[in-house]
Amino acid sequence: MVNEAMRQVWAETAPSWVEHEQVFDRVGSAAADAILAVAGIGPGDSVLDVGCGTGALLAAAIDAGASATGVDISAAMTEAAAARVPAADVLFADAQTEDLASLSTAPFDRVVSRHGVMFFDDPVGAFANIRRACSDGARLAFVCWRTLAENPTFTLGAPVLMARMPELPPMPPPGAPGPMSLAEPERVRGVLGDSGWADVTVEPLDYEFVYGAEGDDGVDERVTMLLGTPMGQAMASTLEPALGPDGWAALLDELRAEVRKHVVDGHVRHPAACWLVTASSGSRA
Ligand SMILES: C[S@@+](CC[C@H](N)C(=O)[O-])C[C@H]1O[C@@H](n2cnc3c(N)ncnc32)[C@H](O)[C@@H]1O
Repeated sequence: MVNEAMRQVWAETAPSWVEHEQVFDRVGSAAADAILAVAGIGPGDSVLDVGCGTGALLAAAIDAGASATGVDISAAMTEAAAARVPAADVLFADAQTEDLASLSTAPFDRVVSRHGVMFFDDPVGAFANIRRACSDGARLAFVCWRTLAENPTFTLGAPVLMARMPELPPMPPPGAPGPMSLAEPERVRGVLGDSGWADVTVEPLDYEFVYGAEGDDGVDERVTMLLGTPMGQAMASTLEPALGPDGWAALLDELRAEVRKHVVDGHVRHPAACWLVTASSGSRA
């Protein structure tokens, strides 16, 4: 089935994401702000959020006086988004294959996504499908990751676990569906151009992940976040039974000590390196 691997990944990862929604929203708030600043959502707009997760951008669209539709391939995410933003329409579907143009809330004037558009088997087909559901001159605004090397959110603390793994999974080839599939700006431009989007801009967006609320250094939050990623979950499911309760607890202490090295001014911090991408649906006549 189309997008089956990523559907599986999100089925396994979404429950942890939903549980820690507030953490993901806090560390990702700068990305949401950047998207909203360029999307220009206003009263009366119909907004589509692709890979809406638990609905942070849906809530912002409703607050701006727009109508909002979220689409996500994970049932747990869509349930959480629908509960959080009852005024939004939330669809449990694959944005690549679902006939979005036939939705009662189409055509869309604004399409937004925070890290939700990198998981398609067929990115050109997916972005063409999304564009077909837009009004003429609709604006697309999304944030995606730059390279793995620039984004410690995927790696900070991970070597402590990796060192104990009997074998590591192979790295996905460049461009494969996954968080870094749009890391190359030329690929972003190529995919959007080939799917009919016009006036594409790809600008760097740099901000900082800051873990921990007031009075909390964020060490446990970072550890939880790492263990909630697909890679973290896979390593925990191998190591926890292999090490037993005491060994696993000792490894977590080691992991916390490693993460604690990244406390600056009272909180664990690291840079986040993204692309802020905009485009126009142009005239579809
Ligand atoms: C990194 S999360 C971001 C969630 C949300 N946008 C946020 O910022 O909190 C990526 C989301 O994209 C969704 N997703 C992945 N592939 C998808 C697809 N083909 N169609 C719709 N949603 C998809 C996942 O289920 C997940 O909720």
